[in-house]
Amino acid sequence: MEKQKLQCPESRQQELQKKLEAPMVQLRYAYAIDVIRAKLRMINAGLTEQNRRQVIRSMSSRIKSADSVVKKLSRKGQEVTYRTAVSSLNDIAGIRVVCYFCDDIYQVADAVRRQSDIRVLKEKDYVGSPKKSGYQSIHLIVGVPVTYEDRTREVRVELQIRSFAMDYWAELDTQMCYKKSAGQIENVEREIRGYSDVIAKVDNKMLELRRRIDGM
Ligand code: GTP
Ligand code: MG
Repeated sequence: MEKQKLQCPESRQQELQKKLEAPMVQLRYAYAIDVIRAKLRMINAGLTEQNRRQVIRSMSSRIKSADSVVKKLSRKGQEVTYRTAVSSLNDIAGIRVVCYFCDDIYQVADAVRRQSDIRVLKEKDYVGSPKKSGYQSIHLIVGVPVTYEDRTREVRVELQIRSFAMDYWAELDTQMCYKKSAGQIENVEREIRGYSDVIAKVDNKMLELRRRIDGM
């Protein structure tokens, strides 16, 4: 009885992994990522022309590994099945867009909202209201229609849009603290949150400076 109980979650994980790693499923997510990346390149070209400077500095993307999917479902207390993963997780496909200045992120987010062939399903503005950790970014969950033969599915992609400075903070936070227990070490949580405020101040100063230079 005990043995059966222990084996069960493992076989469910294997089942989830097998289904998530099926070529057609991976290709569906890869396709949705490619569509949004192509769209973002066009958005960057449009905004670069309008602003007469580059707006997007870099983009990166990933498909969440089966391991991370299992961990996230377990953390959220959800059933560890492929079906639950696909229906409840918004970030199986993810793209990160890093802009030069902190006002650029709103221009990119607005441009994404204006695209008529994709749907913005959810938005989180962690710039207007930073997370308790100090994390700042705009998150858009977009739905991309992916057609294969006669069936169209809406595949969700999590788009994280942030400035170069916000990205610097988030990358170091990920390495040192995020999803780790470093926050329990005295003062770490408060310190990293404080640096996020410092970085945001510099980010805004750089924006002011750019505006002064632009106005010359
Ligand atoms: P996750 O389980 O963290 O993905 O949370 P969620 O899907 O409920 O959404 P949330 O908006 O909280 O976070 C989504 C993503 O934003 C995460 O996967 C991270 O990439 C990033 N993120 C959120 N909070 C933090 C943070 O405090 N620090 C860092 N470095 N990244 C964060
Ligand atoms: Mg995530």
